[in-house]
Amino acid sequence: MDDVAVGLDIGTTKTCAVIGFMNENNQVEIAGVGVSPSKGLKNGVVVNIDNTSSSIIKAVEEAELMAGCEISEVYAGITGQHLKGENSRGVVAISNRSRTITPAEVRRVIDAAQAVVVPADREILHVLSKEFSVDDQTGIKDPIGMNGVRLEAEVHIITAATSNIQNLIKSIAKSGFHCTDVIASPLACSESVLNQDEKELGVVLIDIGGGTTDIIVYFEGGVAYSTSLAIGGIHVTNDISIGLRTPLESAEMIKKKDGCAAADIVDPSVSIEVPSVGGRAPRRIFKQELAHIIEPRMMEIMEMVDRELLKSGKKDVLAAGVVLTGGGSIIEGCIEAAERVFNMPVRIGVSKASAGLKEVVATPQYTSGVGLLMYGLKMREFQKGRVKAGRESSISGIGKKLKRWFEEYL
Ligand SMILES: Nc1ncnc2c1ncn2[C@@H]1O[C@H](COP(=O)(O)OP(=O)(O)OP(=O)(O)O)[C@@H](O)[C@H]1O
Ligand SMILES: [Mg+2]
Repeated sequence: MDDVAVGLDIGTTKTCAVIGFMNENNQVEIAGVGVSPSKGLKNGVVVNIDNTSSSIIKAVEEAELMAGCEISEVYAGITGQHLKGENSRGVVAISNRSRTITPAEVRRVIDAAQAVVVPADREILHVLSKEFSVDDQTGIKDPIGMNGVRLEAEVHIITAATSNIQNLIKSIAKSGFHCTDVIASPLACSESVLNQDEKELGVVLIDIGGGTTDIIVYFEGGVAYSTSLAIGGIHVTNDISIGLRTPLESAEMIKKKDGCAAADIVDPSVSIEVPSVGGRAPRRIFKQELAHIIEPRMMEIMEMVDRELLKSGKKDVLAAGVVLTGGGSIIEGCIEAAERVFNMPVRIGVSKASAGLKEVVATPQYTSGVGLLMYGLKMREFQKGRVKAGRESSISGIGKKLKRWFEEYL
């Protein structure tokens, strides 16, 4: 298995490594998955390198064991409130004699579009082309070969705080692995969950994790908006712990077992047992009481997302509606609650890996890990294509330059 790649999702609550490869039928085949609790993160950001590193080692070892191979490099995801997405435009004149657009012109216009002022403490992670205009013709997806005098590009740029990227890379290096690339988690997630039709029609993918909620909006095939909020399932657990005066571990357990995000769909006669603190005897409460604690927090998360959707200016045109993913979306009643807030069709998204251990990863918690693997594999295939076409001398040049070419063609 020479061609395996690894997606490493270092989340606030769990670190997940997914090993896979592109099989002979061009399907992403999952070979191994490893998960371990994360200890060194806060709201998606590394705050303790040693603890993060031991979580990475455990998750990767487990995945290696399952896949029966050893790995040395990973595609890592990054999330957190410091991630920022913004739209930008670039314009260039087509100056060659035949006035035909070649890949060189596309590269030039994308360069022009990304010439935004990025503060010294931030780095550009992705430059995603949305659409091109040639002279007065707008809405062009692939302008290469067309004729014109003016080429315009609309791009979505995702930036992140340099220190957070460095701490992530350091944690990975400390675990003994090379980080091939750092990819924004919302983008990776959409790779594994969304289909092309949804991206064309307009869709929002919401990844409700433990300490972050990632949002990415697609419209007409390109990314229109992306951001990450510092709120997630941990806040729901905290509310249960305080509201029911029970330890955090029991609150987490109760949430997973009996929690519901829409109180009105809960049978009012059903009761559940709640462990107490300080050695007191457990109590019984109505399941609906628990839902009354969870619902307002889940509503708050979704209302915060809704405000971002309004900011994106695309809320009214998302014909494919809402796709929820991440561990926080597993809770019962999540679809009902989301439909009420967004007033759009809602589905829960799991990864669309199509071979190997695909059932193992078919849960909303693994969508980022699988997405990172898929993104990495796609980038690798692209690189191989370039080598075959003689445009690249070796495979070792993977880096910013390759990523930029790859994303121009995404
Ligand atoms: N069955 C379930 N019911 C309710 N909540 C659940 C369930 N399973 C997991 N969760 C919640 O999902 C959250 C973790 O989700 P996930 O694994 O996607 O987060 P993460 O990737 O570690 O964090 P982040 O993406 O925010 O950095 C936790 O708050 C957990 O309580
Ligand atoms: Mg996550």
